[in-house]
Amino acid sequence: MATTHQTATASLQEQARRHLWMHFSRMGAYDDAHEIPIITRGDGCYVWDEHGKRYLDGLSALFCVNIGHGRHDVAQAGADQAKELGFFTTWSYAHPRAIELAARIARLAPGDLNRVFFTSGGGESVESAIKLVRHYHKLTGHPNKTKIIARETAYHGTTLGALAATGITNLRQPYEPFTPGGCHVANTNLYRLAPGYGAENLAEAFARRIEFEGPDTVAAVIAEPVQNAGGCLTPPDGYFQRLREICDEHDVLLISDEVICSWGRLGEYFGAERYGYQPDLITTAKGLTSSYAPMGAVIATDRVMEPFLQGSASFAHGFTWGGHPMCAAVAMANLDVFEHEGILENVREHEPAFRAMLESLRDLPIVGDVRGAGYFQAIELVKDRETRQTFSAEESETLLRGFLSGALFERGLICRADDRGDPVIQLAPPLIAGPEQFAEIEAVLRPVLEEASARMLG
Ligand SMILES: Cc1ncc(COP(=O)(O)O)c(C=O)c1O
Repeated sequence: MATTHQTATASLQEQARRHLWMHFSRMGAYDDAHEIPIITRGDGCYVWDEHGKRYLDGLSALFCVNIGHGRHDVAQAGADQAKELGFFTTWSYAHPRAIELAARIARLAPGDLNRVFFTSGGGESVESAIKLVRHYHKLTGHPNKTKIIARETAYHGTTLGALAATGITNLRQPYEPFTPGGCHVANTNLYRLAPGYGAENLAEAFARRIEFEGPDTVAAVIAEPVQNAGGCLTPPDGYFQRLREICDEHDVLLISDEVICSWGRLGEYFGAERYGYQPDLITTAKGLTSSYAPMGAVIATDRVMEPFLQGSASFAHGFTWGGHPMCAAVAMANLDVFEHEGILENVREHEPAFRAMLESLRDLPIVGDVRGAGYFQAIELVKDRETRQTFSAEESETLLRGFLSGALFERGLICRADDRGDPVIQLAPPLIAGPEQFAEIEAVLRPVLEEASARMLG
């Protein structure tokens, strides 16, 4: 048995190293001494690797598996649907699951976000929203409104249109030039406020940029309720309310990019509900199916839809698999779990304990800030807590890739040690997690961060 297992293991490693092109991965970094982590199964908040070692999935895979791993019933909904109708397209046709899911999403979404355009993932949703706002303004007599204003360090996807909105220099530079019209303003990093801004006037960055570009040229603003890249950057009070006013003043559409922040991540179905604002468009994916199937969506208000209902108008855009019946059936089963098992309620009940556990690590000298909302939290690591001095690029490389990522994984915790911005550790466990998992996370984080403090701060 052992021999068979070892052979199978070696062969998977070999095949992965030889044939699999992993996303955002330094493929040259893997060799006999540095195995590719191969995750083979999951159950609840836990996953197991090919050696049978168990890990606490403190990142819900990639902010994805909101209801937790191993839900046979959700998978079964896809299989049942395949027996009935494995695939049909939403190009000029409809099918029951896409219709039912669209109606259900519209019921759950805030305000008059009543129209759902399905995609296969987050990047496609953002790409679709960018095309949609341009087309909307053309149909309503403002053909020059084409620009999108996003925020620095924000991640909105990797396709060339979405990349124009993504504000992370090293993800952009190798692929320039991309779709014109992407502009960036200060984000809501309250720990390191942009010069000239306080928490109270951060939204004005959008007003200034719209005025600078010329309101007649700006189609939309795109922002996540809590910005992922940079480390769970929450908005200050009133930020989105002011942003809504600024958008209305200049006939600019507000896109709430909720690829991460919807489906319970912040304790509500949509992040916009948590912060009490009404977007014109929501882009979503990941948690819509808890990633048991690949699916995303753009959700539009009646106002945005209106010109597309006139005469021969048509949004000349689509993806073969948008609204795929198996994915839609899986999404319906996923939302059943939300409804029947109190997923949102679990996040609301346990968010304070999750946060308190992370706050308790503030006694460690390397912990500079703890921030986030819901089950979407980050710890910023600093060189000097008093001055908030951050690590140099080289130090950050040593800290994150040279030590933290490996040490956390080694001790059985999957989370994200990231430096798109200043170095942070991000935690976003499945929304079924509770005090037992928080204690496990602490039991790993504390000794690892103690060692990181000793290594980096002397
Ligand atoms: C806010 C946001 N927008 C867009 C995307 C792109 O989604 P996908 O990777 O599904 O294309 C992501 C992915 O993490 C995201 O977090």
